[in-house]
Amino acid sequence: MKDARAEVSTFADSRVLILKQGEPQACSLVVFGITGDLARRKLVPAIYNLARDAALPEPFPVIGVGRAEQSPDQLRDLLRKSVEEFSRTQPVDRGTWDHVAASIDYVHGDFSGPDLYEQLRSRIEEVGAQHGIDGRTLFYCATPAGLFPTILDGLEKARLLRPVTGEKGSLWPRVLVEKPFGRDLASSVELNDRVARVLDESQTFRVDHYLGKETVQNILVFRFGNAIFEPIWNQKYIDHVQITAAETLGIGRRGHFYDETGVIRDVIQNHLLQVLALCAMEPPTSFDADAIRDEKTKVFRSLRRIVGEDVTRRVVFGQYEGYREEENVDPDSRTPTYAALEVMIDNWRWQGVPFYVRAGKRLCEKVTEVAIHFKPIPFCLFGGQDTCPLVPRNVLVLRIDPDEGIALDITTKLPADDLWVGGVEMSFSYERAFEQSPRGAYERLLLDCMRGDQMLFARRDGIELEWEFVTPIVEAWENGSEPVLVYKPGSPGPDEAGRLTGRHGCHWKGFRDAARTRSD
Ligand code: BG6
Repeated sequence: MKDARAEVSTFADSRVLILKQGEPQACSLVVFGITGDLARRKLVPAIYNLARDAALPEPFPVIGVGRAEQSPDQLRDLLRKSVEEFSRTQPVDRGTWDHVAASIDYVHGDFSGPDLYEQLRSRIEEVGAQHGIDGRTLFYCATPAGLFPTILDGLEKARLLRPVTGEKGSLWPRVLVEKPFGRDLASSVELNDRVARVLDESQTFRVDHYLGKETVQNILVFRFGNAIFEPIWNQKYIDHVQITAAETLGIGRRGHFYDETGVIRDVIQNHLLQVLALCAMEPPTSFDADAIRDEKTKVFRSLRRIVGEDVTRRVVFGQYEGYREEENVDPDSRTPTYAALEVMIDNWRWQGVPFYVRAGKRLCEKVTEVAIHFKPIPFCLFGGQDTCPLVPRNVLVLRIDPDEGIALDITTKLPADDLWVGGVEMSFSYERAFEQSPRGAYERLLLDCMRGDQMLFARRDGIELEWEFVTPIVEAWENGSEPVLVYKPGSPGPDEAGRLTGRHGCHWKGFRDAARTRSD
């Protein structure tokens, strides 16, 4: 039955424009850490792709900030190479890049000294006056998270954070900051307090790039744009949910960062809990940033806490073989590179439905997806009660990456005289259906920030509740003495993870054949 797959068609005449996004407001972009990994791999290629689609306001001045002493031309040269390597669209259009490059400037210096910010201020004022965008600045902190408070101090002292009112009363400047936002509950509250002293919440854009992914946004349209799923989206029909973020890559050259962070802080506290909340939340009262974030917050509040001995029962940690020999990793490190959790949501909709969440590095496959496993049929018409468990169950897979799309496993009769039944997959792929790959997450997030739309950014209360949930888990692991479970690179992770699903009588969805939705 492996290749049984039904295709769905898209209906061009069923397209409806429901909501027209506002225009991004003209502004200048300041990128702290312009020569770092994030800026080179994601941000600058995103700017290039937006320019290529004529989606940016014109002009769009970019001021890179870094420590390295180099000329703006040297920087532009470095960034061109990054765009050539990492751009979502290839080949890079030279004319578009030259246009983008001409608006990139560079300021360098010590992030903790006042000189850098004074230089920056005069540069921002110059560009602002030249293009009539005075005060409308986006500050993107693409530096290691620890530098964020230093940058805020510098900006504040240089009077670069004085509020200016833009379109429809929205406030500028705006600050974009990357996760991890804090490293536990106490530090995230402290950081949020620090931010709140100088910026309004509407000026604070906490980036979780998963929220910018087209397929993550589609979870809402899928749930609330189709009448057939919402009535069965609850404990009565859903047996359990699996959320997976598996990577084949290891930690690369990020040993120092990763060894202090680990998989829970790196992807579970933010990306996967956000995805979980979108799948589990109640219908919001409107399609508006706060209405949606209110509902997500309620899910975070309903997460059953995992504390004390429960951590060993409901969480499995692993570390890939060879991790301790990676560059800048402590040779005795216990930092987990894999974790699997059984998450319960205490509310009417989800009582008794486990959400299994797992993430890991150096696994056998790169796949990010949500798999909704439905309950078995209640009665088997074709063969009596004992055949019920043999009938394949329905599984709905929301594939986030790669091959973004949706697949539904259904049971069908097989062509034969005897009554054979089997599962087939109805599958929809973004790329095949629309013949284009979706916009990159950073492109979407940059545009939304220019529009002042915070729907795809994490709000303060959400972040703190996420930390409230994960902090006892990471602390129990860090203060505990459980031996580290080592798994082989290229494997599905530690076998021990099967203990979590086994208790509920189910299995982790197999990795080997990611296109299929069936449970193994
Ligand atoms: C980042 C993590 O936030 O997300 C990385 O810091 C991880 O460790 C990455 O590799 C995964 O993102 P994506 O978009 O490749 O799934």
